Amino acid sequence: MTLTKTIAVTAATGRLGSATLRALKTETDPANLVAIARRPDRVSVSGVGTRPGDYADKVQMIEAFDGIDTVVMISAPSVVGSDQLTLHKNVIEAAKEAGVRKIVCTSVIGNGKEQDTWFWPTQEMNRKTEELLMSSGITWMIARNGLYLELDLHHIIGAQTGGVYSNSGGDGVCGYISIDEIAYAMARLACADQGENRVYNIIGETMTQGRLVSLASEIFGLHVEYLPISDDENVARLMKDERIAARGEPIARMLAGCFQAMREGAFDIKSDYEAASGRPCKSVVAMMSEIKSKQAAG
Ligand SMILES: NC(=O)c1ccc[n+]([C@@H]2O[C@H](COP(=O)([O-])OP(=O)(O)OC[C@H]3O[C@@H](n4cnc5c(N)ncnc54)[C@H](OP(=O)(O)O)[C@@H]3O)[C@@H](O)[C@H]2O)c1
Repeated sequence: MTLTKTIAVTAATGRLGSATLRALKTETDPANLVAIARRPDRVSVSGVGTRPGDYADKVQMIEAFDGIDTVVMISAPSVVGSDQLTLHKNVIEAAKEAGVRKIVCTSVIGNGKEQDTWFWPTQEMNRKTEELLMSSGITWMIARNGLYLELDLHHIIGAQTGGVYSNSGGDGVCGYISIDEIAYAMARLACADQGENRVYNIIGETMTQGRLVSLASEIFGLHVEYLPISDDENVARLMKDERIAARGEPIARMLAGCFQAMREGAFDIKSDYEAASGRPCKSVVAMMSEIKSKQAAG
């Protein structure tokens, strides 16, 4: 007999937290699910329990984890002036104190070649979070996620006016994946009874920027070509995006660092998607088509 497990998802108002709860609803009874968020009233997924939980407030996180078997811990966003490692440490320590049995933690893919790039401070924080979790005594599963397909598609579609999409990724390959595909893998890991204490690379097929742009042009009916640029030019390009500019120049550098890392081969990674989820990852074309349908549906 399989015992009923209560599963909580943190940062449940975000894109990945919401998508993971939706995926979990197809894997287990929603009565077993708890959405933890700074503002529980903003949780958009229906039928699940909600509790307040700010990573900065360890006492509140301990209360939020009361009676929870498994936590899907979504990493805190990069914010200028915010110490993500301390926030993650709070969550892991709170889970330990509350008696949580298992944590499925999000991280980012990378084979180490990203160490000399502007992405390294963020990646180093991810790796230190992984170490904290591994030494916590809590059963763990680490999902090193690929780069969100949605984010780069947004920029490629936005380049339609000028017909050229530029970044500094060059001929480096990267495993892109949609948020819904990551969420499916996160849900399967949370519900799994085996495969614990393991790192999983949650990515789809790897490809160059040129190939990504060519597929996006095909699926979205665009006339956009890829043109590599320098790292500094890439920061300037990213700062033209008002959402990135609002987060500040250090965030644009960190994002430009992802393309440096790509160029260095840091994201040329073998996928563990099937081991994590029980089925192969959807193709990039299939994921793009789904994103297009969702956009059309509003
Ligand atoms: N693999 C990739 O390509 C990629 C891309 C972007 C981000 N990421 C990472 O993956 C994470 C999840 O991505 P996402 O797309 O779901 O991000 P998102 O949509 O920006 O959501 C971020 C979530 O974090 C919550 N949050 C922020 N500070 C918090 C705190 N102190 N305590 C508790 N919750 C807090 C936000 O809550 P509020 O609603 O209260 O603000 C929101 O729910 C990001 O945070 C980032 O670390 C990965």
